[in-house]
Amino acid sequence: MDFKDLVNFDRLLGWFSVDMGIDLGTCNTLVCVRGEGIVLNEPSVVAVRKGTNKVLNNGNAVGWMAKEMLGKTPGSITAVRPLKDGVISDFEITEAMLSYFIRKVNGRTRFYGPRVVISVPSGITAVEKRAVFDSAERAGARKTFLIEEPIAAAIGAGLPFVEPTASMIVDIGGGTTEVAIMSLADIATCESVRVAGDDMDEAIINHMKKTYNMMIGEQTAERIKIEIGSAAQVGDETTLDVRGRDMISGLPRKTTVTSEEVREALQEPVSSIIDAVTRTLERAEPELAADLVDNGIVLAGGGALLRGIDKVLHQATGLDVRIADDPLTCVARGTAIYLEHIEEWQPTLESDMDV
Ligand SMILES: Nc1ncnc2c1ncn2[C@@H]1O[C@H](COP(=O)(O)OP(=O)(O)O)[C@@H](O)[C@H]1O
Ligand SMILES: [Mg+2]
Repeated sequence: MDFKDLVNFDRLLGWFSVDMGIDLGTCNTLVCVRGEGIVLNEPSVVAVRKGTNKVLNNGNAVGWMAKEMLGKTPGSITAVRPLKDGVISDFEITEAMLSYFIRKVNGRTRFYGPRVVISVPSGITAVEKRAVFDSAERAGARKTFLIEEPIAAAIGAGLPFVEPTASMIVDIGGGTTEVAIMSLADIATCESVRVAGDDMDEAIINHMKKTYNMMIGEQTAERIKIEIGSAAQVGDETTLDVRGRDMISGLPRKTTVTSEEVREALQEPVSSIIDAVTRTLERAEPELAADLVDNGIVLAGGGALLRGIDKVLHQATGLDVRIADDPLTCVARGTAIYLEHIEEWQPTLESDMDV
């Protein structure tokens, strides 16, 4: 068999397996399959016995199942988000998570290993990339490609990323915000900062402590952010009833918070994101910066849904700012589109690795 036959053989195998694009996010992992769309969308969470890195339930306490177990048996088990800060905190746990998700999607009916494209935060090290790559292979992938998250986001958002014109993507996730300027299918300038949705939640927790002597949990903080949080005033101001524990009496109580005070609380993380964007713009080559006057900035990731974030970024940069369609699935859709064009794009994309 010559090389061409091998390629065709690989295509043939493709009929028996389900090629998948995976967005390995700090908060959520999504799997997108061509023709089927998003087939898996679960929290990037693993349940382990406290003090160990042993994944419970024979390696299956991952995603929604991990969340469910945590609710039922608090105390002895604990939740780990292995990619929380955009770096891999524990290789074994990351591998268990990735392998569970790949098996869950591929295991349904197929016999052959899938080809997988995995998007990874651009800040992870070569060793971490290698670990993700090896995990995918061990989980049964026939061929694995890694791409940097901003590239996947740009593809998913429909940006002209292979053309000789600059485009800029800001992907605000849970643990990290990735800011990148791309041209000719390559990243020209990028920055990954560890300020994103989690820090917004934390800012709200701190605000509740300071202002009301009230402890609230992470999920409550996230709900406040999503329901009434904003980066700039858009529409009418609102309020929300919040329940938590009084820090002095130790007893449960309720209080009302306003959208203005939440916006004030979110100012610090929002400013850090704005700073990352302006820094990246300042570092861009003049020709690329010039293109952005016409092309503007595109926002992706869950943080793009924070009310008014487009407005403050427009005010800070003077550029047009647009939110990608369905920003939470943008990266996953990008990885699946990349997989479809892999023969055409792979030679020009340095970042997909044969590590
Ligand atoms: N409507 C919303 N407003 C503000 N933040 C949101 C909204 N929806 C989701 N988020 C936040 O987006 C983050 C998750 O985004 P995601 O892109 O899935 O992250 P990652 O790619 O790091 O897994 C979380 O911090 C979540 O609270
Ligand atoms: Mg993401």
